[in-house]
Amino acid sequence: MHAVLLDKAHHAIKETLPERGNDHRLGFHLSPPVGWMNDPNGLVYYRGEYHVFYQHHPYSPQWGPMHWGHAKSHDLVHWEHLPIALAPSDPYDRDGCFSGSAVVVDDTLYLIYTGHVWLGSPRDDNHIQQVQCLASSTDGITFTKHGVIIDAPPGPEIMHFRDPKVWKRGEQWWMALGARKGDDPQLLIYRSVDLYHWEYLSCALQGVRESDGYMWECPDLFELDGSDVFLYSPQGLKPSGYANWNKFQNSYRLGKLDDSGHFNPSAALHELDHGHDFYAAQTLLAPDGRRLLWAWMDMWDCPMPSQAQHWCGALSLPRELSLEGDRLRMRPARELTALRKSQHGLQIPVVESASRPLDVRGALLEIEIELDLAGSTAEHFGLALRCSEDQHERTLLYFDAMARRLVLDRQHSGAGVSGVRSVPISPEQTRIALRIFLDRSSIEVFVDDGAYTMTSRIYPRPDSLGISAFAVNGTGVFGDLVAWELTDLKI
Ligand code: FRU
Repeated sequence: MHAVLLDKAHHAIKETLPERGNDHRLGFHLSPPVGWMNDPNGLVYYRGEYHVFYQHHPYSPQWGPMHWGHAKSHDLVHWEHLPIALAPSDPYDRDGCFSGSAVVVDDTLYLIYTGHVWLGSPRDDNHIQQVQCLASSTDGITFTKHGVIIDAPPGPEIMHFRDPKVWKRGEQWWMALGARKGDDPQLLIYRSVDLYHWEYLSCALQGVRESDGYMWECPDLFELDGSDVFLYSPQGLKPSGYANWNKFQNSYRLGKLDDSGHFNPSAALHELDHGHDFYAAQTLLAPDGRRLLWAWMDMWDCPMPSQAQHWCGALSLPRELSLEGDRLRMRPARELTALRKSQHGLQIPVVESASRPLDVRGALLEIEIELDLAGSTAEHFGLALRCSEDQHERTLLYFDAMARRLVLDRQHSGAGVSGVRSVPISPEQTRIALRIFLDRSSIEVFVDDGAYTMTSRIYPRPDSLGISAFAVNGTGVFGDLVAWELTDLKI
């Protein structure tokens, strides 16, 4: 049955491909050939290659019964799409193979995922069954399902019970799961010696609805520079000040996970990325010891204009994590410099209450530039990106001197999306170093070597390619700009 359903899905993809529109198609980010993509799943290094799976609906660019899409890369830059790995096919996963993770044992690749079933009709979020399931492959392409390894908790109190992240701790396998007990979120730990038989160990962390949201999706737990990091995607947090304005967040807490399976937080909750579109991040440990992270570069219930062109959803660029004090730093994976083609260097004269078009254009660009705060007097100054000739379309990235924040403004970015996000700039800071990746429908900003990041989707017209430097009411002083055209890999 599984094989038949996979064939059916591949057939549907092949049929739709000629109809796909490419106006917003990303050049160097992973996105589905057609159909829908959400969370990254099963990130793993297997037989010398990086494998990335993802939540995928091959039949339409809307969320639907979840499959696991699959791609691999030997260098984190060039990706090859592989056949779909998992399709919902059995009574326990009939309505979806939800998110999960992957591990390698003796050259066999194991996927651990959530089997989802709607119990009510019409379907409703309060009548579901979620179980944890196992599948394996010895060629990294075709997967055999092994069925349910952890049953749904008894009783009606826990129904949301998903997104297993499995890793080796000492001699045993540990699994972190997100759960919703009543209206409160929980992080649960199970353990196993063989991946097939699991015992419940602990509730590692218990939250309360009011302050912690109602569900922690896509947990990840890993050690980084001497701390343990609990990375997760809380649902139900309320906006507060500048924080938590997306529909759902992607956040983390530092602490210590002890041998009895309790997580003792040592620092406050932080948002991981500060753009509009960043969710369900997961990590893998690369063979050289780097902790690499990918996120879904979209957000639930947001406009997704590429749906009209038969595809939607993308993953962020892979990022390298490190710890600075009690905050995570994210840098673009160092391999990504291989995307660079021709380089342009520009000196930008001081801009006085004006907007000055720059001699660099493009949809696929990496840009490095510094904003000189000490030398500037403008209320706002920075860059306008993906500008149309008439300047009606533009995506702004600028320093707001009154608020002392770096602002990403996509109110005039093109189709569908809107809104403003920002990160704080400390009073002592005299300059901001920016590294920006533009793809046809995305912007990722790495601020001060990854101390903050802002990731958002934008949907400008294909011919909105200009860049300007601007300053409002005063002078804006810019460091030299270096831009690279980036390779269009048409992933
Ligand atoms: C997160 C999530 C997961 C779930 C998956 C379903 O975005 O809601 O909790 O497993 O998406 O597609």
